[in-house]
Amino acid sequence: MLHTILKKKKEKMFTEEKKKNKNYGSIFIYCFFCFVFVVEVARFAKPYYKNLENLVEETEALVVEEGFVGLEKSGILPPCPFKRSRSALSVPVRNHQKLSGAIRREDRTRPPSSYCVKFTSFATLQQLVKGNGDKWESRPFSVGGYNWTLIIYPNENKPQGSGGYVSMYVRIDNSTLIANPRDVYAEITFLTYKSTIDKYHFLQETDAQRFHLFKQQWGQLNFLEIGYYRDPGQGFIFDGGQSVFGVDILVSNPFENWEVFSYEENILDPVFNWKLTKFSTRDLDSYSSDPFSSGGRNWVLKVYPNGVGPATGNSLSLFLLSASNENGYVKAKLRVLDQIRSTHVEKQVEGWPNATERGWGFEKFLPLADIKDASKGFLVNDTLKVEVEILSFSKSDSL
Ligand SMILES: *[C@@H]1O[C@H](CO)[C@@H](O)[C@H](O)[C@H]1NC(C)=O
Ligand SMILES: *[C@@H]1O[C@H](CO)[C@@H](O)[C@H](O)[C@H]1NC(C)=O
Ligand SMILES: *[C@@H]1O[C@H](CO)[C@@H](O)[C@H](O)[C@H]1NC(C)=O
Ligand SMILES: *[C@@H]1O[C@H](CO)[C@@H](O)[C@H](O)[C@H]1NC(C)=O
Repeated sequence: MLHTILKKKKEKMFTEEKKKNKNYGSIFIYCFFCFVFVVEVARFAKPYYKNLENLVEETEALVVEEGFVGLEKSGILPPCPFKRSRSALSVPVRNHQKLSGAIRREDRTRPPSSYCVKFTSFATLQQLVKGNGDKWESRPFSVGGYNWTLIIYPNENKPQGSGGYVSMYVRIDNSTLIANPRDVYAEITFLTYKSTIDKYHFLQETDAQRFHLFKQQWGQLNFLEIGYYRDPGQGFIFDGGQSVFGVDILVSNPFENWEVFSYEENILDPVFNWKLTKFSTRDLDSYSSDPFSSGGRNWVLKVYPNGVGPATGNSLSLFLLSASNENGYVKAKLRVLDQIRSTHVEKQVEGWPNATERGWGFEKFLPLADIKDASKGFLVNDTLKVEVEILSFSKSDSL
Protein backbone atom coordinates (compact mmCIF):
# COMPACT_ATOMS: atom_id res chain seq x y z
CA MET A 1 0.00 0.00 0.00
CA LEU A 2 2.58 2.48 1.26
CA HIS A 3 4.96 1.16 -1.30
CA THR A 4 2.49 1.74 -4.14
CA ILE A 5 1.82 5.29 -3.03
CA LEU A 6 5.53 5.99 -2.98
CA LYS A 7 5.93 4.42 -6.39
CA LYS A 8 3.13 6.53 -7.78
CA LYS A 9 4.66 9.62 -6.20
CA LYS A 10 7.98 8.78 -7.82
CA GLU A 11 6.41 8.20 -11.20
CA LYS A 12 4.51 11.45 -11.00
CA MET A 13 7.65 13.33 -10.14
CA PHE A 14 9.46 11.78 -13.05
CA THR A 15 6.81 12.83 -15.53
CA GLU A 16 6.72 16.36 -14.22
CA GLU A 17 10.43 16.44 -14.39
CA LYS A 18 10.43 15.34 -18.02
CA LYS A 19 8.08 18.20 -18.85
CA LYS A 20 10.37 20.73 -17.27
CA ASN A 21 13.34 18.97 -18.82
CA LYS A 22 15.88 20.36 -16.37
CA ASN A 23 17.67 19.39 -13.19
CA TYR A 24 17.04 15.77 -14.01
CA GLY A 25 19.87 14.46 -11.86
CA SER A 26 19.26 16.48 -8.72
CA ILE A 27 15.55 15.77 -8.69
CA PHE A 28 16.23 12.07 -9.09
CA ILE A 29 18.65 12.07 -6.16
CA TYR A 30 16.17 14.04 -4.09
CA CYS A 31 13.42 11.56 -4.86
CA PHE A 32 15.67 8.63 -4.13
CA PHE A 33 16.56 9.94 -0.68
CA CYS A 34 12.91 10.74 0.03
CA PHE A 35 12.07 7.16 -0.82
CA VAL A 36 14.87 5.70 1.32
CA PHE A 37 13.86 7.95 4.20
CA VAL A 38 10.22 6.89 4.17
CA VAL A 39 11.14 3.23 3.81
CA GLU A 40 13.38 3.49 6.86
CA VAL A 41 10.66 5.25 8.86
CA ALA A 42 8.21 2.52 7.85
CA ARG A 43 10.68 -0.13 8.92
CA PHE A 44 11.24 1.31 12.39
CA ALA A 45 7.56 1.98 12.83
CA LYS A 46 6.68 -1.61 11.99
CA PRO A 47 4.63 -2.26 15.14
CA TYR A 48 2.47 0.68 14.19
CA TYR A 49 2.51 -0.14 10.52
CA LYS A 50 -0.88 -1.85 10.65
CA ASN A 51 -2.44 1.28 12.11
CA LEU A 52 -0.70 3.46 9.57
CA GLU A 53 -1.88 1.20 6.78
CA ASN A 54 -5.40 1.36 8.09
CA LEU A 55 -5.27 5.15 8.29
CA VAL A 56 -4.03 5.39 4.74
CA GLU A 57 -6.56 2.89 3.50
CA GLU A 58 -9.46 4.45 5.33
CA THR A 59 -9.69 7.33 2.93
CA GLU A 60 -10.32 4.97 0.02
CA ALA A 61 -12.01 2.01 1.59
CA LEU A 62 -15.69 1.35 1.58
CA VAL A 63 -17.70 1.13 4.75
CA VAL A 64 -18.10 -2.47 5.82
CA GLU A 65 -21.63 -3.51 6.38
CA GLU A 66 -22.96 -5.74 9.10
CA GLY A 67 -24.05 -9.25 8.38
CA PHE A 68 -21.00 -11.24 7.39
CA VAL A 69 -22.25 -14.54 6.03
CA GLY A 70 -20.32 -17.35 7.61
CA LEU A 71 -20.43 -21.11 7.42
CA GLU A 72 -21.45 -21.81 10.95
CA LYS A 73 -21.12 -25.48 11.51
CA SER A 74 -23.34 -25.57 14.55
CA GLY A 75 -22.91 -28.71 16.52
CA ILE A 76 -19.57 -29.64 14.99
CA LEU A 77 -17.73 -27.02 17.02
CA PRO A 78 -15.84 -28.52 19.93
CA PRO A 79 -17.32 -26.84 22.97
CA CYS A 80 -15.24 -24.31 24.82
CA PRO A 81 -16.92 -24.60 28.18
CA PHE A 82 -16.72 -21.57 30.37
CA LYS A 83 -18.87 -19.91 32.94
CA ARG A 84 -20.01 -16.39 32.50
CA SER A 85 -18.46 -13.89 34.80
CA ARG A 86 -20.46 -10.76 35.24
CA SER A 87 -18.45 -9.49 38.18
CA ALA A 88 -16.68 -6.82 36.18
CA LEU A 89 -18.13 -3.92 34.28
CA SER A 90 -17.98 -4.09 30.53
CA VAL A 91 -15.03 -2.05 29.34
CA PRO A 92 -15.01 -1.54 25.60
CA VAL A 93 -11.92 -2.47 23.69
CA ARG A 94 -9.87 0.57 22.85
CA ASN A 95 -11.55 2.09 19.89
CA HIS A 96 -9.11 4.68 18.68
CA GLN A 97 -7.47 2.20 16.35
CA LYS A 98 -8.73 3.37 12.99
CA LEU A 99 -10.30 0.59 11.00
CA SER A 100 -10.79 0.42 7.29
CA GLY A 101 -12.87 -1.62 4.91
CA ALA A 102 -10.11 -4.17 4.73
CA ILE A 103 -10.08 -4.95 8.44
CA ARG A 104 -13.01 -5.30 10.77
CA ARG A 105 -12.75 -5.35 14.55
CA GLU A 106 -16.01 -5.98 16.39
CA ASP A 107 -17.84 -8.22 18.85
CA ARG A 108 -20.22 -11.01 17.96
CA THR A 109 -22.23 -13.74 19.66
CA ARG A 110 -21.54 -16.48 17.12
CA PRO A 111 -18.71 -18.77 18.29
CA PRO A 112 -15.67 -19.57 16.15
CA SER A 113 -16.69 -21.82 13.26
CA SER A 114 -13.43 -23.65 12.58
CA TYR A 115 -11.47 -24.07 15.79
CA CYS A 116 -11.60 -23.02 19.42
CA VAL A 117 -9.15 -23.37 22.29
CA LYS A 118 -9.49 -22.60 25.97
CA PHE A 119 -6.41 -22.01 28.12
CA THR A 120 -7.17 -22.67 31.78
CA SER A 121 -4.49 -20.12 32.62
CA PHE A 122 -3.28 -17.52 30.15
CA ALA A 123 -0.45 -16.55 32.51
CA THR A 124 0.80 -20.14 32.66
CA LEU A 125 0.62 -20.40 28.88
CA GLN A 126 2.84 -17.32 28.64
CA GLN A 127 5.46 -19.08 30.78
CA LEU A 128 5.25 -22.50 29.13
CA VAL A 129 5.63 -21.30 25.52
CA LYS A 130 9.00 -19.77 26.32
CA GLY A 131 10.52 -23.21 25.80
CA ASN A 132 8.79 -23.46 22.40
CA GLY A 133 9.83 -20.34 20.54
CA ASP A 134 7.19 -18.34 22.41
CA LYS A 135 4.36 -19.86 20.43
CA TRP A 136 1.54 -22.28 21.03
CA GLU A 137 0.30 -24.39 18.13
CA SER A 138 -3.00 -26.23 18.01
CA ARG A 139 -3.66 -29.79 16.95
CA PRO A 140 -4.46 -30.01 13.22
CA PHE A 141 -8.06 -29.50 12.23
CA SER A 142 -9.70 -29.93 8.86
CA VAL A 143 -11.46 -27.15 6.93
CA GLY A 144 -12.35 -27.06 3.23
CA GLY A 145 -10.38 -30.21 2.38
CA TYR A 146 -7.14 -29.03 4.04
CA ASN A 147 -5.60 -29.48 7.46
CA TRP A 148 -4.79 -26.31 9.39
CA THR A 149 -3.26 -25.32 12.70
CA LEU A 150 -3.88 -22.25 14.82
CA ILE A 151 -0.77 -20.53 16.21
CA ILE A 152 -0.82 -18.09 19.12
CA TYR A 153 2.05 -15.94 20.38
CA PRO A 154 1.04 -14.76 23.88
CA ASN A 155 4.21 -12.86 24.81
CA GLU A 156 5.52 -9.37 24.08
CA ASN A 157 7.37 -8.76 20.86
CA LYS A 158 6.92 -12.39 19.81
CA PRO A 159 7.15 -12.73 16.94
CA GLN A 160 9.61 -9.89 16.42
CA GLY A 161 7.82 -6.62 15.83
CA SER A 162 4.52 -7.49 17.44
CA GLY A 163 5.18 -5.08 20.30
CA GLY A 164 2.76 -5.46 23.14
CA TYR A 165 0.25 -7.52 21.18
CA VAL A 166 -0.91 -11.10 21.14
CA SER A 167 -0.33 -12.41 17.61
CA MET A 168 -2.46 -15.05 15.91
CA TYR A 169 -1.73 -17.10 12.80
CA VAL A 170 -3.11 -20.00 10.82
CA ARG A 171 -0.95 -22.43 8.90
CA ILE A 172 -2.10 -24.70 6.12
CA ASP A 173 -0.80 -28.27 6.19
CA ASN A 174 1.47 -28.51 3.16
CA SER A 175 1.14 -32.24 2.37
CA THR A 176 -1.79 -31.64 -0.01
CA LEU A 177 -0.01 -28.67 -1.60
CA ILE A 178 3.20 -30.64 -2.14
CA ALA A 179 1.26 -33.44 -3.85
CA ASN A 180 -0.72 -30.96 -5.93
CA PRO A 181 0.59 -27.35 -5.91
CA ARG A 182 -2.21 -24.83 -6.10
CA ASP A 183 -3.55 -21.61 -4.59
CA VAL A 184 -5.97 -21.85 -1.70
CA TYR A 185 -8.06 -18.79 -0.94
CA ALA A 186 -9.48 -18.52 2.56
CA GLU A 187 -11.19 -15.82 4.59
CA ILE A 188 -9.73 -15.75 8.08
CA THR A 189 -11.23 -14.28 11.26
CA PHE A 190 -9.48 -14.48 14.63
CA LEU A 191 -11.56 -14.39 17.80
CA THR A 192 -11.21 -14.18 21.56
CA TYR A 193 -13.97 -14.53 24.13
CA LYS A 194 -14.94 -11.49 26.19
CA SER A 195 -16.76 -12.68 29.29
CA THR A 196 -18.03 -9.27 30.42
CA ILE A 197 -20.35 -9.03 27.44
CA ASP A 198 -20.56 -12.77 26.70
CA LYS A 199 -19.41 -12.20 23.12
CA TYR A 200 -16.46 -12.95 20.89
CA HIS A 201 -14.24 -10.07 20.02
CA PHE A 202 -12.95 -10.60 16.47
CA LEU A 203 -10.50 -9.22 13.96
CA GLN A 204 -11.40 -9.98 10.38
CA GLU A 205 -9.63 -9.28 7.12
CA THR A 206 -12.45 -9.00 4.61
CA ASP A 207 -10.33 -10.06 1.65
CA ALA A 208 -9.56 -13.73 1.27
CA GLN A 209 -5.93 -14.67 1.88
CA ARG A 210 -3.98 -16.66 -0.64
CA PHE A 211 -2.11 -19.71 0.68
CA HIS A 212 0.25 -21.76 -1.46
CA LEU A 213 3.42 -23.83 -1.26
CA PHE A 214 5.55 -20.75 -0.60
CA LYS A 215 3.10 -19.02 1.73
CA GLN A 216 1.71 -21.51 4.19
CA GLN A 217 1.11 -19.18 7.11
CA TRP A 218 -0.84 -15.98 7.54
CA GLY A 219 -2.08 -14.01 10.51
CA GLN A 220 -2.41 -10.84 12.56
CA LEU A 221 0.72 -9.55 14.22
CA ASN A 222 -1.38 -7.15 16.28
CA PHE A 223 -4.40 -9.16 17.30
CA LEU A 224 -5.04 -7.63 20.73
CA GLU A 225 -2.89 -5.87 23.35
CA ILE A 226 -1.50 -8.32 25.89
CA GLY A 227 -2.57 -5.84 28.60
CA TYR A 228 -6.17 -6.91 28.13
CA TYR A 229 -5.21 -10.38 29.35
CA ARG A 230 -3.74 -9.03 32.56
CA ASP A 231 -6.77 -7.11 33.82
CA PRO A 232 -9.77 -9.37 34.58
CA GLY A 233 -11.94 -6.25 34.42
CA GLN A 234 -11.57 -6.31 30.63
CA GLY A 235 -13.25 -9.70 30.44
CA PHE A 236 -10.65 -11.46 28.28
CA ILE A 237 -9.40 -13.46 31.27
CA PHE A 238 -12.06 -14.80 33.53
CA ASP A 239 -12.80 -17.47 36.12
CA GLY A 240 -9.33 -17.53 37.60
CA GLY A 241 -7.24 -16.70 34.56
CA GLN A 242 -8.95 -18.60 31.76
CA SER A 243 -8.94 -17.33 28.17
CA VAL A 244 -10.52 -18.50 24.93
CA PHE A 245 -9.32 -18.05 21.36
CA GLY A 246 -10.68 -19.25 18.05
CA VAL A 247 -10.65 -18.90 14.31
CA ASP A 248 -13.03 -18.98 11.35
CA ILE A 249 -11.49 -20.31 8.15
CA LEU A 250 -13.67 -20.12 5.07
CA VAL A 251 -12.01 -21.85 2.15
CA SER A 252 -13.31 -20.54 -1.13
CA ASN A 253 -12.83 -23.10 -3.89
CA PRO A 254 -13.09 -21.93 -7.51
CA PHE A 255 -16.40 -22.63 -9.19
CA GLU A 256 -16.92 -26.03 -10.77
CA ASN A 257 -20.25 -25.37 -12.44
CA TRP A 258 -20.56 -22.89 -15.24
CA GLU A 259 -22.25 -22.16 -18.54
CA VAL A 260 -21.96 -19.73 -21.41
CA PHE A 261 -25.24 -18.32 -22.59
CA SER A 262 -25.26 -16.88 -26.10
CA TYR A 263 -27.67 -16.00 -28.88
CA GLU A 264 -27.15 -17.51 -32.33
CA GLU A 265 -28.42 -15.39 -35.21
CA ASN A 266 -26.45 -16.47 -38.27
CA ILE A 267 -28.05 -19.83 -38.80
CA LEU A 268 -26.45 -22.28 -41.18
CA ASP A 269 -29.04 -24.38 -43.14
CA PRO A 270 -32.01 -22.48 -41.72
CA VAL A 271 -34.75 -24.17 -43.81
CA PHE A 272 -36.03 -27.73 -43.48
CA ASN A 273 -38.80 -29.36 -45.58
CA TRP A 274 -40.84 -32.33 -44.52
CA LYS A 275 -43.24 -34.26 -46.79
CA LEU A 276 -46.02 -36.24 -45.13
CA THR A 277 -47.28 -38.66 -47.79
CA LYS A 278 -50.55 -40.65 -47.49
CA PHE A 279 -51.73 -37.98 -45.12
CA SER A 280 -55.36 -39.13 -44.99
CA THR A 281 -54.32 -42.60 -43.80
CA ARG A 282 -52.25 -41.36 -40.87
CA ASP A 283 -54.21 -42.24 -37.77
CA LEU A 284 -51.61 -41.90 -35.01
CA ASP A 285 -51.88 -38.91 -32.63
CA SER A 286 -48.60 -37.42 -33.79
CA TYR A 287 -45.78 -37.86 -36.28
CA SER A 288 -42.20 -36.63 -35.95
CA SER A 289 -39.77 -35.91 -38.76
CA ASP A 290 -36.27 -37.35 -38.93
CA PRO A 291 -33.86 -35.14 -36.96
CA PHE A 292 -32.30 -32.39 -39.06
CA SER A 293 -29.43 -30.04 -38.34
CA SER A 294 -29.80 -26.28 -38.40
CA GLY A 295 -27.39 -23.77 -36.90
CA GLY A 296 -25.32 -26.64 -35.51
CA ARG A 297 -28.17 -28.05 -33.46
CA ASN A 298 -30.45 -31.01 -34.14
CA TRP A 299 -34.18 -30.41 -34.43
CA VAL A 300 -37.36 -32.31 -35.15
CA LEU A 301 -40.71 -31.23 -36.58
CA LYS A 302 -43.81 -32.68 -34.94
CA VAL A 303 -47.29 -32.74 -36.40
CA TYR A 304 -50.60 -33.74 -34.82
CA PRO A 305 -52.71 -34.48 -37.98
CA ASN A 306 -55.92 -34.33 -35.96
CA GLY A 307 -54.77 -31.64 -33.49
CA VAL A 308 -53.82 -31.75 -29.80
CA GLY A 309 -55.35 -30.21 -26.69
CA PRO A 310 -57.98 -27.59 -27.49
CA ALA A 311 -57.19 -28.07 -31.21
CA THR A 312 -58.24 -31.75 -31.23
CA GLY A 313 -60.62 -32.44 -34.10
CA ASN A 314 -60.50 -28.94 -35.53
CA SER A 315 -56.90 -27.87 -36.32
CA LEU A 316 -53.56 -29.26 -37.33
CA SER A 317 -50.97 -28.76 -34.55
CA LEU A 318 -47.38 -28.06 -35.53
CA PHE A 319 -44.27 -27.79 -33.38
CA LEU A 320 -40.53 -27.44 -33.71
CA LEU A 321 -38.67 -29.49 -31.08
CA SER A 322 -35.05 -29.70 -30.04
CA ALA A 323 -33.74 -33.23 -30.66
CA SER A 324 -31.40 -32.87 -27.66
CA ASN A 325 -34.05 -31.39 -25.37
CA GLU A 326 -32.56 -27.90 -25.31
CA ASN A 327 -35.02 -25.37 -24.02
CA GLY A 328 -33.92 -21.84 -24.77
CA TYR A 329 -35.30 -18.91 -26.67
CA VAL A 330 -36.16 -19.67 -30.32
CA LYS A 331 -37.30 -17.50 -33.19
CA ALA A 332 -38.58 -19.50 -36.19
CA LYS A 333 -41.17 -19.47 -38.97
CA LEU A 334 -43.43 -22.52 -39.27
CA ARG A 335 -45.19 -23.12 -42.59
CA VAL A 336 -47.65 -25.41 -44.34
CA LEU A 337 -47.14 -25.12 -48.10
CA ASP A 338 -49.86 -24.35 -50.64
CA GLN A 339 -48.62 -26.66 -53.38
CA ILE A 340 -50.91 -25.22 -56.09
CA ARG A 341 -50.06 -21.54 -55.81
CA SER A 342 -46.48 -21.98 -54.48
CA THR A 343 -47.25 -19.99 -51.38
CA HIS A 344 -47.83 -20.95 -47.74
CA VAL A 345 -49.51 -20.32 -44.42
CA GLU A 346 -46.89 -19.07 -42.01
CA LYS A 347 -46.80 -18.44 -38.28
CA GLN A 348 -43.80 -17.22 -36.33
CA VAL A 349 -42.76 -18.51 -32.92
CA GLU A 350 -40.60 -16.30 -30.77
CA GLY A 351 -39.92 -17.15 -27.16
CA TRP A 352 -39.31 -19.91 -24.68
CA PRO A 353 -40.78 -23.40 -25.15
CA ASN A 354 -44.53 -23.91 -24.99
CA ALA A 355 -45.84 -25.25 -21.73
CA THR A 356 -47.68 -28.29 -23.12
CA GLU A 357 -45.23 -29.40 -25.78
CA ARG A 358 -41.52 -29.11 -24.96
CA GLY A 359 -41.02 -27.14 -28.13
CA TRP A 360 -42.09 -24.09 -30.10
CA GLY A 361 -45.25 -24.01 -32.12
CA PHE A 362 -49.03 -23.82 -32.24
CA GLU A 363 -51.82 -26.13 -31.22
CA LYS A 364 -54.15 -24.37 -33.67
CA PHE A 365 -51.85 -23.94 -36.62
CA LEU A 366 -54.26 -24.57 -39.52
CA PRO A 367 -57.99 -25.55 -39.55
CA LEU A 368 -58.54 -29.14 -40.68
CA ALA A 369 -61.32 -27.88 -42.96
CA ASP A 370 -58.76 -25.84 -44.94
CA ILE A 371 -56.53 -28.91 -45.35
CA LYS A 372 -59.46 -31.02 -46.61
CA ASP A 373 -60.50 -28.27 -49.04
CA ALA A 374 -58.68 -29.44 -52.21
CA SER A 375 -58.91 -25.97 -53.78
CA LYS A 376 -56.60 -24.54 -51.05
CA GLY A 377 -53.70 -26.66 -52.26
CA PHE A 378 -52.40 -27.93 -48.88
CA LEU A 379 -53.11 -31.55 -49.70
CA VAL A 380 -52.00 -32.60 -53.20
CA ASN A 381 -51.85 -36.30 -54.10
CA ASP A 382 -52.53 -36.91 -50.37
CA THR A 383 -49.23 -35.24 -49.45
CA LEU A 384 -48.84 -32.45 -46.89
CA LYS A 385 -45.69 -30.31 -47.04
CA VAL A 386 -44.44 -28.70 -43.84
CA GLU A 387 -41.52 -26.32 -43.54
CA VAL A 388 -39.54 -24.50 -40.87
CA GLU A 389 -37.10 -21.62 -41.13
CA ILE A 390 -35.02 -21.14 -38.01
CA LEU A 391 -34.03 -17.51 -37.55
CA SER A 392 -32.24 -17.49 -34.21
CA PHE A 393 -31.96 -19.32 -30.90
CA SER A 394 -30.23 -19.02 -27.57
CA LYS A 395 -27.46 -21.41 -26.57
CA SER A 396 -26.16 -22.50 -23.23
CA ASP A 397 -22.82 -24.30 -23.32
CA SER A 398 -21.03 -25.93 -20.43
CA LEU A 399 -18.71 -28.83 -19.76
C1 LIG B 1 -5.43 -34.27 7.80
O1 LIG B 1 -4.84 -34.90 8.90
C2 LIG B 1 -5.30 -36.22 9.14
C3 LIG B 1 -4.63 -36.72 10.42
O2 LIG B 1 -3.28 -36.39 10.44
C4 LIG B 1 -5.00 -37.08 7.94
O3 LIG B 1 -5.49 -38.38 8.14
C5 LIG B 1 -5.65 -36.48 6.72
O4 LIG B 1 -5.31 -37.20 5.57
C6 LIG B 1 -5.22 -35.04 6.54
N1 LIG B 1 -5.96 -34.47 5.44
C7 LIG B 1 -5.44 -33.67 4.51
C8 LIG B 1 -6.33 -33.15 3.47
O5 LIG B 1 -4.25 -33.38 4.52
C1 LIG C 1 5.86 -28.46 5.21
O1 LIG C 1 5.50 -28.15 6.54
C2 LIG C 1 6.41 -28.62 7.51
C3 LIG C 1 5.81 -28.33 8.86
O2 LIG C 1 5.49 -26.98 8.98
C4 LIG C 1 7.75 -27.97 7.30
O3 LIG C 1 8.67 -28.47 8.25
C5 LIG C 1 8.23 -28.28 5.90
O4 LIG C 1 9.44 -27.58 5.65
C6 LIG C 1 7.20 -27.87 4.87
N1 LIG C 1 7.62 -28.28 3.57
C7 LIG C 1 7.58 -27.48 2.49
C8 LIG C 1 8.04 -28.07 1.21
O5 LIG C 1 7.20 -26.33 2.55
C1 LIG D 1 -46.46 -21.34 -27.92
O1 LIG D 1 -45.47 -20.33 -28.03
C2 LIG D 1 -45.75 -19.32 -29.00
C3 LIG D 1 -44.62 -18.34 -29.01
O2 LIG D 1 -43.41 -18.99 -29.02
C4 LIG D 1 -47.06 -18.63 -28.67
O3 LIG D 1 -47.35 -17.69 -29.66
C5 LIG D 1 -48.17 -19.67 -28.58
O4 LIG D 1 -49.35 -19.07 -28.20
C6 LIG D 1 -47.79 -20.74 -27.57
N1 LIG D 1 -48.81 -21.73 -27.53
C7 LIG D 1 -49.16 -22.36 -26.43
C8 LIG D 1 -50.24 -23.37 -26.58
O5 LIG D 1 -48.66 -22.12 -25.34
C1 LIG E 1 -48.80 -38.95 -56.62
O1 LIG E 1 -48.30 -40.02 -55.85
C2 LIG E 1 -47.99 -41.18 -56.61
C3 LIG E 1 -47.54 -42.26 -55.63
O2 LIG E 1 -47.81 -41.93 -54.29
C4 LIG E 1 -46.93 -40.85 -57.58
O3 LIG E 1 -46.65 -41.98 -58.39
C5 LIG E 1 -47.35 -39.67 -58.46
O4 LIG E 1 -46.30 -39.31 -59.32
C6 LIG E 1 -47.75 -38.52 -57.62
N1 LIG E 1 -48.26 -37.43 -58.48
C7 LIG E 1 -47.85 -36.18 -58.32
C8 LIG E 1 -48.49 -35.19 -59.25
O5 LIG E 1 -47.04 -35.83 -57.48
